[in-house]
Amino acid sequence: MKKHVLLAVSGGIAAYKSCDIVRRLQDAGCEVRVCMTPDACEFISPITFEALSQYPVLTDLFDFPESPNPHIMLGAWADLCLVCPATADIMAKVASGIADECVSTTILALRAPAVFAPAMNVHMWRDEATQGNVALLQQRGYGFIMPTSGLLACGDMGEGKLASVSDIVASVLAHLKIVRDLAGLKLLVNAGPTHEAIDPVRYIANASSGKMGFSIAQAALDRGAAVTLVAGPCSLATPEGAERIDVVSAHDMYEACMSAFEHADAAICSAAVADYTPKIVADHKLKKSDEPIGSIELVPTKDILAELCRIKGTRVVCGFAAETSDLIGNATEKLVRKHADMIVANDVSKPESTFGSDTNLVSFVTADGVEELPTLPKEEVADAILDRVARLISERR
Ligand code: CTP
Repeated sequence: MKKHVLLAVSGGIAAYKSCDIVRRLQDAGCEVRVCMTPDACEFISPITFEALSQYPVLTDLFDFPESPNPHIMLGAWADLCLVCPATADIMAKVASGIADECVSTTILALRAPAVFAPAMNVHMWRDEATQGNVALLQQRGYGFIMPTSGLLACGDMGEGKLASVSDIVASVLAHLKIVRDLAGLKLLVNAGPTHEAIDPVRYIANASSGKMGFSIAQAALDRGAAVTLVAGPCSLATPEGAERIDVVSAHDMYEACMSAFEHADAAICSAAVADYTPKIVADHKLKKSDEPIGSIELVPTKDILAELCRIKGTRVVCGFAAETSDLIGNATEKLVRKHADMIVANDVSKPESTFGSDTNLVSFVTADGVEELPTLPKEEVADAILDRVARLISERR
């Protein structure tokens, strides 16, 4: 789920830099809403922030179409409030509990942490009252992204310059515990079962839900990767931002993965691909009779994981091993036979890690050995897999 950042803009010339911050936070996967003091509206139009955030901007507590109590609504909505730029005035108000316009009132109603990025003239910054308020706010647990020194907009030299946009965004992401370690990487993930047609209405399938692969795709997107998700038939919602390619059969999945891998830096093969497919697919619905139908001849499908590993070069490819016995033995055999960089070994005979469950119990098998994890929600398993994949990628670089 996207993190919610409330950007509170107070009246200083650095307000224009907050426009860029909205975009950067959105690019990092946050949803951003904006509230502005009346003075901030003198420096920059609320329409600019409205267009960027795609939400109405709160500028007046008594004129906000979405809610009769916008300060309460936004105070509950935010996971974090960034006050940027923070003037001496807004810090003084928050330190004293004054709520006389929409920003100070909303900060008072906040249920989330707030971080101040002050910007002002050097003498205003150094003033005892301002420094006293900063100290008081810090004591109360508010965060600060301190101003830097340099030539100020008023022409004075000294402290009071808004911290750099990159530092402010990095600090907000750190407060929200958002990790962007996969930014710039292109990841191929396959997920779900495949359906192997017998006739136009019947097929051979397996019980894979696709949840593990979709969780990996979501976690990778959250960490900044571009993701191509090749999905077998499953009804899960597409993680926002993923390029999803829906396929039906093992053959379709093979074609889609081989093509997507051309542009990928790494692949994670979590799909439960059918090992066999009917040799002949009837072109009409097979009719029932009292006679036995004999047998359906099955032929092997192509092994996608093994094929990707054959052409991967220095790229990282991770597979899964769904087992009901000798988990580590079978997973190790697959690691070696398919030349994978890592196998996520998963005992599908246990209720907490069976196909379709929301948790998983896995071990990671690599050339370096075996690492066992406890039973975890699939979202956490996804992050653990990506931690190992990111480490393998960085070792190759
Ligand atoms: N896999 C694949 N293409 C196939 C079969 C499997 O890419 N045709 C991949 C799976 O996505 C998984 C890994 O191979 O990452 C292991 O799949 P699994 O079904 O556990 O093993 P198999 O190789 O099919 O061997 P077996 O069924 O005998 O255990």
